[in-house]
Amino acid sequence: MISFSAVSKRFPDGTVAVDGLDLKIDAGSFTVFVGPSGCGKTTSMRMVNRMVVPTAGTVTVDGRDVAATDAVELRRGIGYVIQGGGLLPHRTVLDNIATVPVLRGQTRRAARRAALDVLDRVGLDPILAGRYPAQLSGGQQQRVGVARALAADPPILLMDEPFSAVDPVVRAELQAEMQRLQAELRKTIVFVTHDIDEAVRLGDRVAVFGPHGRLQQHDTPRIVLAAPATDFVADFVGRDRGYRGLSFRGADAVPLHALRRLRESEIAAAALAPGDWALVVSDAEHPRGWIDAAGLDAVRAGRSVAEASAAGGSLFTVGTDLRQALDAAISSPSGVGVAVDTSGAVVGGIDAADVVALLAEQRRAEDRLRNGR
Ligand SMILES: Nc1ncnc2c1ncn2[C@@H]1O[C@H](COP(=O)(O)OP(=O)(O)OP(=O)(O)O)[C@@H](O)[C@H]1O
Ligand SMILES: [Mg+2]
Repeated sequence: MISFSAVSKRFPDGTVAVDGLDLKIDAGSFTVFVGPSGCGKTTSMRMVNRMVVPTAGTVTVDGRDVAATDAVELRRGIGYVIQGGGLLPHRTVLDNIATVPVLRGQTRRAARRAALDVLDRVGLDPILAGRYPAQLSGGQQQRVGVARALAADPPILLMDEPFSAVDPVVRAELQAEMQRLQAELRKTIVFVTHDIDEAVRLGDRVAVFGPHGRLQQHDTPRIVLAAPATDFVADFVGRDRGYRGLSFRGADAVPLHALRRLRESEIAAAALAPGDWALVVSDAEHPRGWIDAAGLDAVRAGRSVAEASAAGGSLFTVGTDLRQALDAAISSPSGVGVAVDTSGAVVGGIDAADVVALLAEQRRAEDRLRNGR
């Protein structure tokens, strides 16, 4: 466990970066520090591995006062990942990952062999092992940074905005990878981000920092969104918080409606009334897009199916949450969301009104529970 008791940090120039921080981080939890720029997230995180020394209060790791622990010994148990990966430019990927194990006395050979395993674990092709950091994409560098921290197998991992320098698609991939790794490794992770979406997606606890390094709220993502503790938090989690909150609600009870489906081979002979839509599916029943009467005419006039159909909206994978279900419905050109199973095959259609009705029903059940009836 990591604990901050009445911790403050005033830099020599008088800047108060952290002010009276009290926070307990459970072992095995994924805690996200979130807040606007300059609110003391990095400073707080760096007090855990003694890169910053508090001017007041105590930080402990597993009950031991960090100030009284040898910094080298302390950092042996704490991995640190920063934006861009923080890789050594003149060492290969494999040697970057093997650095700490070698420093700890492993033979270079054994450390390199272990490094290959870790490379695989973070989803990197072993072909990259011999490259230098400059020969990797941003997302690959970031993955190597995570691999390097994991190679030392520390019980605690500090990650400071590790994914903020990559594009949104790579970022989503890295987030998914992180969730998968954490499910497997169960380390104590402290993760810093500006991005509330990233925070609620990854964290099982979210600590929201406000101006002058004052902690505003430390709760599960669901509670932070549903019941912001201060005006600052309400403002920070923003307007879409109702929508974000849907991601914590199960969607198993959303009814799936029959969908008009068309295989590409059936399109030439098909007819649709004006205003009706059909979902174009592959032979394996995977969605390809939506087509209407005008689209069918265009195909008959010689356009390809891809050109004549409207791109589909987002897909709802059965077993996920109400946010996906609602997004699928409202992003679909036909107004009907497409539900797929985990293999990607279409299983039915979703009506936005059903999602909203289910939300209301879940809320009523929660109210009854709260009122003891
Ligand atoms: N070495 C330093 N000397 C003086 N002030 C500092 C020092 N390091 C950080 N600060 C100040 O402390 C405050 C908190 O900085 P910190 O880096 O912890 O913020 P942050 O929340 O991580 O911000 P960001 O999201 O921009 O990374 C800022 O006002 C910053 O300018
Ligand atoms: Mg920072």
